[in-house]
Amino acid sequence: MKLADKLNEAGKGQIPFHMPGHKRASFAHLEGINYHIDFTETPDSDDLHHPSGLLLESQKTLSELFGTVRSYYSVNGSTGCILAAIRAVTASGQKALIARNCHKSVFNACALCSLETAYLFPEVGEDGIYLSVEEKELEKRLRKEGNVALVVITSPTYEGVLSDITALSDICHAHGALLMVDEAHGAHLGFYDPQIRSATACGADLVVQSFHKTLPAFTQTAVLHLCSDRVDEELLSEQMAIFQSSSPSYLLLSSLDGCVSFLKENGGCFVRWRNAVTKARVRLAALNKLRLFEGEGGYLYDQSKILILTDRAGITGQDLYDRLYEKGIVCEMAAYNSLLAMTGAGDCEGSLEALADALIAVDGELTEGILPMPPHTRREPNVLIALHACHRKKRERIPLTDAVGRICAASVYLYPPGSPLLLPGEEITQEIVSLLERYENVGISVNGIADGIAVLCEEG
Ligand SMILES: Cc1ncc(COP(=O)(O)O)c(C=O)c1O
Repeated sequence: MKLADKLNEAGKGQIPFHMPGHKRASFAHLEGINYHIDFTETPDSDDLHHPSGLLLESQKTLSELFGTVRSYYSVNGSTGCILAAIRAVTASGQKALIARNCHKSVFNACALCSLETAYLFPEVGEDGIYLSVEEKELEKRLRKEGNVALVVITSPTYEGVLSDITALSDICHAHGALLMVDEAHGAHLGFYDPQIRSATACGADLVVQSFHKTLPAFTQTAVLHLCSDRVDEELLSEQMAIFQSSSPSYLLLSSLDGCVSFLKENGGCFVRWRNAVTKARVRLAALNKLRLFEGEGGYLYDQSKILILTDRAGITGQDLYDRLYEKGIVCEMAAYNSLLAMTGAGDCEGSLEALADALIAVDGELTEGILPMPPHTRREPNVLIALHACHRKKRERIPLTDAVGRICAASVYLYPPGSPLLLPGEEITQEIVSLLERYENVGISVNGIADGIAVLCEEG
């Protein structure tokens, strides 16, 4: 069967609570984006890497909308923006302070740019969910590390928890560091909920947003915002051209251009989406064994994320995922004790009612129970070799059980969310091995340990 046929078939019977944010619903600006407008650079189509016509104008509109110095389109997701931005603002050997729950692209960028890395550990709530980056913790780490060139944090997180960007950016700047905010999951923020401002308006120097995650734009589309005069614009433009195709897709660019006009017009879509989510949240607040996460303990919470905690029902997030899948509801992420139903601009009252109906039905089938929480492993790793220094060192793959005490050679992470459990150069401890085994035993697939784990070869 052809992939397109398979997807067309699946699409008919399922309600998506995953990306992309248009949810395969009809949006006027996406209609008509097909092979007829699959162009390359011509006098009519402008050039993403040297824009002087429509693409320049469209990106200016984007910049005005978010009040930035300059904004860029990406056809290589937030991944491309993150690689480009980190390369543009750092030099080999400089130090970056990275929140450990950042996406793997941030760590990849640090390795590619030969940066020294230090990590920030946001608090983890009692439900096992990463909370906000705290000002005290940032201040302490910046003092301890000294000479940090760049701080990178994720806000909102995959689960929707925000940090206080205004306070964090003041601290970074007082220490001479730039702040980049990975807002991949928050492109919709100020539109969906006028009370929550984008990091672009809160003092961050660089902000990355995946338009495709929550807005009506095609998969792979994202934007990079330059928000301060602390960054060299020319270097940033140069790196955006390096980390993107020299033949960017006009189908993707057209969806970005259309999405920016859609945001500017700001019709009733966001109000409808929010009202539908609010209604569903009210119903879900009454769940008995499953629980609706309300952002407890975070600075602010993006209510558009529907995160269901499963531990008091004695089941894993994957178990709940499977039960919903059988009912035609396909969610974004199953974690150990939670499940994320990601809503987006393409959602409507009908899809949210169906989600709430399905969750209430599953809740009714469950009995109370306790899912034992895994040991708390989110603590400082023992870094034996710098991340960037591991590249091309001799490695071997060995069974996980034999790996305690060895040095990790390739990242190990759950996807989604794609934040590392282990990075190259870190000691593999008994604690982390037990956690990885626990994940595998409950059917959560861990990337990087399919055929054993990659470790650096011991010298001599
Ligand atoms: C927090 C975060 N940042 C960045 C990315 C990369 O985004 P993209 O898929 O647009 O490249 C992801 C992907 O899921 C993510 O979760």
